[in-house]
Amino acid sequence: MKTIAFMSGAAGAGKSASAVTLGTKLALRGQAVCIVDLDRQRTSTFYLNAVVDPYDDEQHYVGDVLLRRPKVKEKGAESRRPPTFLDAIQGTQVDNLFVIAGHANLKDDALALAQANGGQRLREAIRPLEQFIDIVLIDCPGELNILATSAIAAADDVVMCFAPTLKHADLMDVWDTVDDMRRDGSSTAEVAAVMPCIIPPKRQGGFYGEIMDKMQAVPAYKALMTPQVRQQHFEPSAYSHQQPLPIHAPRSEVNGDYDLVLEDLDKRGVTTPAAA
Ligand SMILES: Nc1ncnc2c1ncn2[C@@H]1O[C@H](COP(=O)(O)OP(=O)(O)O)[C@@H](O)[C@H]1O
Ligand SMILES: [Mg+2]
Repeated sequence: MKTIAFMSGAAGAGKSASAVTLGTKLALRGQAVCIVDLDRQRTSTFYLNAVVDPYDDEQHYVGDVLLRRPKVKEKGAESRRPPTFLDAIQGTQVDNLFVIAGHANLKDDALALAQANGGQRLREAIRPLEQFIDIVLIDCPGELNILATSAIAAADDVVMCFAPTLKHADLMDVWDTVDDMRRDGSSTAEVAAVMPCIIPPKRQGGFYGEIMDKMQAVPAYKALMTPQVRQQHFEPSAYSHQQPLPIHAPRSEVNGDYDLVLEDLDKRGVTTPAAA
C-alpha cells in the first residue's frame, strides 16, 4: 500500500480536485483507492457524494476515528470499541474508489488531536486499510495544522499542489516542515512532485506566466514539476454535479491534463502502475 498526501502552501490550490480526479483514474485502471478527507471544507467528501449522518451509529467520519470516539454516548456506550477506518470507509459511484469522509467538526477535532498528542494516529489508522487498498490519497487542509502534519507523518510521498497566484508563490513552509519531520524521525515522507494546477490561458496576462517562471527558476521545484493542469470550467462543473471529472467530462482538455500528470507520477514512482 502506498500513501500519498496532497498538500499546498495555501487554500484553493487544486488539492481536492487532484485527489478526486487522480483517485478516480487510478481506480478506473484497477487499483483500489481510498481518499481520506482531512479538510473541514470536505470538498472531496461532497465531490464523491459521501455523507455522514450524525444520527446513524454505523457511520463515522475521519475525526471519529482519530479521536477514538464511539458514535453514541447512551447507555452501554462506554463498552463500545472506538471506530476504525474499516468502520468509516464508504464506497462511491466509482468501482474500487472509496472515501473516508471529512466533516465541518474537523476544526475542533484538530485542537483536540493536538491536546491528545495524536500526531501519529492517522498513520496508525491507515494501516488496516492495507487489507484491500492499494493507494491512499490524503486530501489535506489548506493550513499547516496538526491534521496536515499527521498526513505528513502518515505519507510515503507528498505531492505539492499550487495554483499560480501570489499566495501560492511560496511552498517553502510546508516543504520545510516535511524535511524537518523526516530529520526528527516523525515521518519518512519526501516531497515527490510539485503539481501546477488551475493554470489560466496565456492570454489572461503575464502575471501567471511570471509566477510559473519564478517557480521554474528554483531547481528543487523544477526537478519535481509535473505537467500543468489547465483551468477549465469542466472541473467546477464536475464538482457541482458530484461526478468525478473522468466520468463527468472524459474528453475535456483538463481531464487529458490529468492523464499526463498521472503518467508523470507513475514515472516518478509515486503512483505504482497497475499490474498488466
Ligand atoms: N483545473 C481546474 N479548472 C478550473 N477550476 C478548478 C480546477 N481545479 C480546481 N478548480 C476549482 O478551484 C477551486 C479550488 O480547488 P480545490 O481542488 O478545492 O483546491 P484545494 O483543495 O487546494 O482547496 C475549486 O472551486 C475548484 O472547483
Ligand atoms: Mg480541498
